[in-house]
Amino acid sequence: MLSERIKKIKPSATLAINAKAIELKAQGIDILKFGTGEPDFDTPDNIKNAAKKALDEGFTKYTAATGITELKTAVCEKLKRDNGIECDNSNIIITNGGKQALFNFFMAVLNEGDEVIIPSPYWVSYSDMIAVCEGKSVFMDTTANNFKLTAEMVKEAITPNTKVLILNSPSNPTGMMIEKNEIEAIAELAIKHNFYVLSDEVYEYFLYDGKKMFSIASIPEMKNLAFTINAVSKTYSMTGWRIGYIAGPTEVIKPMGNLQSHSTSNPCSIAQKAALEAITGNQDSVKMMADEFRKRRDFVFEEMNKIPGFKLIKPEGAFYAFPDVSGAFKGDVNDSFKFTEFLMEKAQVAVVPGGAFGEAGNNYIRFSYASSMQDIEKGIQRIKSALEK
Ligand SMILES: Cc1ncc(COP(=O)(O)O)c(C=O)c1O
Repeated sequence: MLSERIKKIKPSATLAINAKAIELKAQGIDILKFGTGEPDFDTPDNIKNAAKKALDEGFTKYTAATGITELKTAVCEKLKRDNGIECDNSNIIITNGGKQALFNFFMAVLNEGDEVIIPSPYWVSYSDMIAVCEGKSVFMDTTANNFKLTAEMVKEAITPNTKVLILNSPSNPTGMMIEKNEIEAIAELAIKHNFYVLSDEVYEYFLYDGKKMFSIASIPEMKNLAFTINAVSKTYSMTGWRIGYIAGPTEVIKPMGNLQSHSTSNPCSIAQKAALEAITGNQDSVKMMADEFRKRRDFVFEEMNKIPGFKLIKPEGAFYAFPDVSGAFKGDVNDSFKFTEFLMEKAQVAVVPGGAFGEAGNNYIRFSYASSMQDIEKGIQRIKSALEK
């Protein structure tokens, strides 16, 4: 009796790994978890205090379905200041996490058979959301170019059915960025072939070695084609608060708001006030986290490349390492899923198989370094020992 639509959604490989880790933990086995996509820091106090204040002041009722005006204004100012994007409140919707922004977007623009170009390896949820909205994912393998997307690759994937291109820089799972000149060339393609570009910038503040963010929506000619999605989830360690947003042309943003008004209505009123403080308040915590992630990234880069059979390209941002581990495959352990199981059982280390991020990732694992340095040191040591046996 299920709809054809819902049958298109695949169970999440990440959740399966998590379930296995929980099962082993329940048996008293000390599993070190490097699977999660969230900072290990607490939400900063100024943000928590803003939420407490909202609660005490009784800010506990429905708000406008697409979010409170102050937060939309703060998002516009942030986009202008940090990303060079010109917009006003009519270009913004506040959503339940970045995920709802993405889902609303695909619901609003995709018709059956419309193609969405996705650089691969890619964050898992894109393709499932697209399938539910009856679109077709077209994957573009970036592995041969150290996961660096180029306009030339995009050009090859364009067809008359191309409706959307997704950019995710820095990327989950690879941590790699798209260079500014490539983004500019991609914008030219989007204008020429008239497709939307959805830029997922949720990791924008976690950049290393002087790398700079460049948002495609800052190019004036992209005003009617570019969408920027972001969230407070990663930047402010607020994954559980569920606040994200999308900025784009009003003719699509408005119908997305209509959809949201009939599905979830407004995101949590208290969390919106917390997000307002996050975006407008003191930003020291973001810098602290970025500094800490950079130290861990340096350590992981050094140490992982010493593991026989591992090859890691230095991630440019986010908090993920995505090493090629195919050199460590042995016997039956010959793909990323089996290798992940091997690590769980023999090293008591939980990571995500690269194959969960598309076929292009099947020689890789994703190791999140949003864990304490102590656990990272221990985890890498355990992997080394398990492989030596
Ligand atoms: C690339 C990417 N985009 C969007 C999201 C969604 O974030 P949120 O928790 O705000 O829904 C995630 C979360 O893992 C992500 O990795």
